[in-house]
Amino acid sequence: MASVQNSKGIAAPLGISKPLLRWYDRHARELPWRISPADRKKGMQPDPYRVWLSEIMLQQTTVATVTPRYQRFLDLWPTLSDLASARQEEVLAEWAGLGYYARAHNLHKCAQVLQQDHDGLFPETAQGLLALPGIGPYTAAAIAAISFDEPAPVMDGNIERVMARLYAVETPLPDAKPVLRAYAAQETPVKRPGDHAQALMDVGATICTPRKPVCSLCPLSQFCGAQSRGIAADLPRKKKKADKPTRHGTAFVIRRKSDNHVLLVRRAPKGLLGGMLAPPTTDWRTEKSIDPSPPFRANWQSQNKVVRHTFTHFHLVLEVQETIVATHAKLDLEGEWVADPLTAGLPTVFRKIFLPSGG
Ligand code: ADE
Repeated sequence: MASVQNSKGIAAPLGISKPLLRWYDRHARELPWRISPADRKKGMQPDPYRVWLSEIMLQQTTVATVTPRYQRFLDLWPTLSDLASARQEEVLAEWAGLGYYARAHNLHKCAQVLQQDHDGLFPETAQGLLALPGIGPYTAAAIAAISFDEPAPVMDGNIERVMARLYAVETPLPDAKPVLRAYAAQETPVKRPGDHAQALMDVGATICTPRKPVCSLCPLSQFCGAQSRGIAADLPRKKKKADKPTRHGTAFVIRRKSDNHVLLVRRAPKGLLGGMLAPPTTDWRTEKSIDPSPPFRANWQSQNKVVRHTFTHFHLVLEVQETIVATHAKLDLEGEWVADPLTAGLPTVFRKIFLPSGG
C-alpha cells in the first residue's frame, strides 16, 4: 500500500517485478514482434528494427489493428536498409488507415539517418535513441529495455493506469504523470527490464483494464492499494477535457469521362495528413461555407453526401462535390489519376468519401 514515504516524498517501492515476471513466464501474450520469455531464456535476442517498427505502429493504434499491418510492412521491408531505400510515397501509402501520418514520415527519415550516420545500427541506450526522428521518451525507453535490456522505465497509458492503481494515486491525469513515472521507475528491475515492461503492458491490456479490471486474476493484487480500497475501477482519475470543436470543409471528386478514374493530389508535406494522397479540398474552418471554392471552374454537383471523421483535436464534417472532366481536358492541378481510390493508399477520412455508405 502506498503509505510509506521515502525521501522524495513518494511511496516506497512495492517490489512487484518478481511475481510479475513469474506471471509473464506463463501468460505472456504471443505477439508477432515479441520474443517469448522461453525463447529469451534460450538466448534469442529481439531484432531492434522489429521492436522499433512495432512500437511506432502501436502508438495510438491497437494490437489487433497493428498485427496484420506489421506483418505486411515487414514483408515489404524486412530490414532497416530495405526501409531506408524505399520511396517515401510507398511508405506513406503502406501506412494508410493507421493514422498519425507524421509517424510514417519519421519512420522513413529515421531509417535513413540510421543507415547514413549510425552504420545501420540502433543506439543501445534510451538517451541515444531519443536523438532520432520520431523517437520520444516512451519509444526510446521501450526499444532500449526490450531490445537491449537497459533498465529504462517504460511509461505508456496502460502502465500509467497500473501504477495509479497499485499506488492508489488519486491525483487526476495529466497532473499525476510525474509521480506515476517515478513509481514505474522505482519498480523497474535491473534483470529482465524488457520483459518487465512487456509484462506490465500485458497486465494493463488484459487484466488491469480501464473499466472492469479483473483483480481476481491479477498477479499484483497483493500489492494493489486501489484494490484493497475498492477503488480500482475509479482510477486513474482524469481531468475533464474540453469538448472537441467541429470543422467544416468540402472535398472535390474529379472523375475522368473515358475511364472513371479519379484525380488525387498530394497534400502539403507539413501539417495534418501531410504528404498523403487526397481529393482536393477547401480549408477546414469552424464556420460552414455556403459557397466553397473548387479547384477549377466546372459543373460541380453536390453529392448530398457528408463524411464525418474525428481527429485528435476536432471533428470534421466534409461535404462532397463531384465533376466529370473530358479525358484530355487541361487541368491546372498536379495529381495522379487512380482507377480505384479505395486501394490507392488514402487516409481513412478520404477513403470514406468513396465508400458506398459514406463511412
Ligand atoms: N503496446 C505497445 N508496445 C507494446 C508491446 N511491446 N507489447 C504489447 N503491447 C504493446
